[in-house]
Amino acid sequence: MEYRVDIRANGSVRTVMAEEGANLLEVLGEAGILPYTPCGGRGTCGKCAVRVEGGGAEPSENERRLLGERLAKGFRLACSFRIGSDICIHIDSSGEQAVIMTAGTRRQVVMDPLVRKKYVELPHPSLDDQRPDLERLLDMAGLSGSGTGLSNLSGIEMKPGILRMLPALLRSSGYRVTAVEAWGRLLSVEAGNTTSRLYGTAFDIGTTTVAAYLYCLESGKLLSAGSMMNPQRKFGADVISRIDRAKTSPQAADEMRSLITECVNELTGQLARNAGIGVEDIYAAVFSGNTTMLHLLYGLDASGIAVSPFIPVTCRTIRLDAGELGIGMNASGQVILLPCVSAYIGADTVSGVLSSGLYERDGYSLLVDIGTNGEIVLGGRDRLIACSAAAGPAFEGANITFGMGGVTGAVDSFTQGFRYTVIGNAAPRGICGSGIVDAVAALLDAGAIDETGALADDTTAAGLPQEVRERLTVTDGIRSFILVPEHESGTSGPITITQKDIREIQNAKAAIAAGIETLMAEAGISYDDIDRVFLAGGFGSTINVRSAARIGLLPVQLTDRVEAVGNASGSGASECLLSQRMLSVAEQIAKKVRYVELSASAIFSDRYIENMIFM
Ligand code: FES
Repeated sequence: MEYRVDIRANGSVRTVMAEEGANLLEVLGEAGILPYTPCGGRGTCGKCAVRVEGGGAEPSENERRLLGERLAKGFRLACSFRIGSDICIHIDSSGEQAVIMTAGTRRQVVMDPLVRKKYVELPHPSLDDQRPDLERLLDMAGLSGSGTGLSNLSGIEMKPGILRMLPALLRSSGYRVTAVEAWGRLLSVEAGNTTSRLYGTAFDIGTTTVAAYLYCLESGKLLSAGSMMNPQRKFGADVISRIDRAKTSPQAADEMRSLITECVNELTGQLARNAGIGVEDIYAAVFSGNTTMLHLLYGLDASGIAVSPFIPVTCRTIRLDAGELGIGMNASGQVILLPCVSAYIGADTVSGVLSSGLYERDGYSLLVDIGTNGEIVLGGRDRLIACSAAAGPAFEGANITFGMGGVTGAVDSFTQGFRYTVIGNAAPRGICGSGIVDAVAALLDAGAIDETGALADDTTAAGLPQEVRERLTVTDGIRSFILVPEHESGTSGPITITQKDIREIQNAKAAIAAGIETLMAEAGISYDDIDRVFLAGGFGSTINVRSAARIGLLPVQLTDRVEAVGNASGSGASECLLSQRMLSVAEQIAKKVRYVELSASAIFSDRYIENMIFM
């Protein structure tokens, strides 16, 4: 039997039909609606809640626990809800607009792009010049000189098909053509002078977001940038959930790959339209991202990354034809997947070391990228050591009761006096990473949280000011603090931070702080020896450094040396697109980094426990 499902979102209604017993999350997914699902639909995060009007099975224990009072208002977990009657779903996405960090630091690089074009006017054949068409072209294009190894047909590297179309192309163009070349390999031949039409894209494939940049490869000019949420996030917020999903079946692995490929293609099309160019003129694409994201993009088996001893298939630079990856650009174009260091230090970190310039600095600098994991690199010109701290996705809003990404409606800053700002100046619906860090810092300053992380209770709150006491509450049996009162909230009740949320933040900040201290101990240095701290990523660019130091996420001794570098991964990918030298520097960085496995480090375990305390 089939039922009618009306989906109301942003003032419009869509109707789909669903089989009896169908899972609501899957029905929404098929309708192109992706609720936030950091637990990958396992029913443990409570983030996929939607308001359901109409019948439904009795709520499960899990739904009761995760939804609490919201259950009475009609909210249900989409991932746990089975359709058993006609229903109406209300999606609260009021103009949700992701704030994704695409901006990064732009260093000047000497243009030496991965792909080049050369316009040539070939001498017409004659009885005195009977060179074959191909030799005529290669000689003039400078592709048959000594050292290229391309002086005879057997040694020529070229795209298949070029020889078949060459005679007609040369004659129809009056022997005026443009050769497209990469690494001495002939990729394509185009009629006439097309040298002004050569473009490339750089991508940062993040676990949560994907950022893309379109460049003119002649001038090095950035023409357009854009971003999207990573569509794979419906299978979970972290890399392990994605790997778990991909390994369930070959179809699941294919689906994971298709999702990210479609996202890349959509972004490519969007950037090309914005810049008024055709995608067939895009001849190069460089991808940065963590090791798992790059494995899933290429369709590699990433299961070794998820279990000890954490073995990826490869960490090397991967060079492919665009057609091989199904990327929507010129099929003869070249695709580069940047090198990684280990299972948990990916190309995104290598790119960050490159674009921040850390690799060429004297002494010691620190690069900290806090995303779903915390990647930390310490070093400079002489040595580089790195670790990955399993901070979990708390700073991205996952596992936090009212946590959400940096989208419209998220509280993104919170100060003493309990004033806050909201992304997009919308009614607040939740809180994102920078807001959470501020909130915990403000609660510590106000005395509402003690150094062990305990929220004040009836006894300990007695000495606190009235405005603090009146915000302390108990929600569903858990001690909480009201950050946004119900009358100011854009959701169905007050926005709170719970004792459980504070524990999540304690774990995450302890992991990052202990990771930094472990690397310092490995290097045998003190805070005085570190002269710069680069904070990478969207979260690193939006957090208040004072709040981060207050909660112990960053060392207080280093706050005067902090520099936000934005999307350092995207910047590194851009540099490698524009300069072959930078690509080779990235490869040297990947080889040079010594990876420190924290799960095997006694220093890390000790420091982690010490850092659980709020000073
Ligand atoms: S509870 Fe439904 S996706 Fe997490």
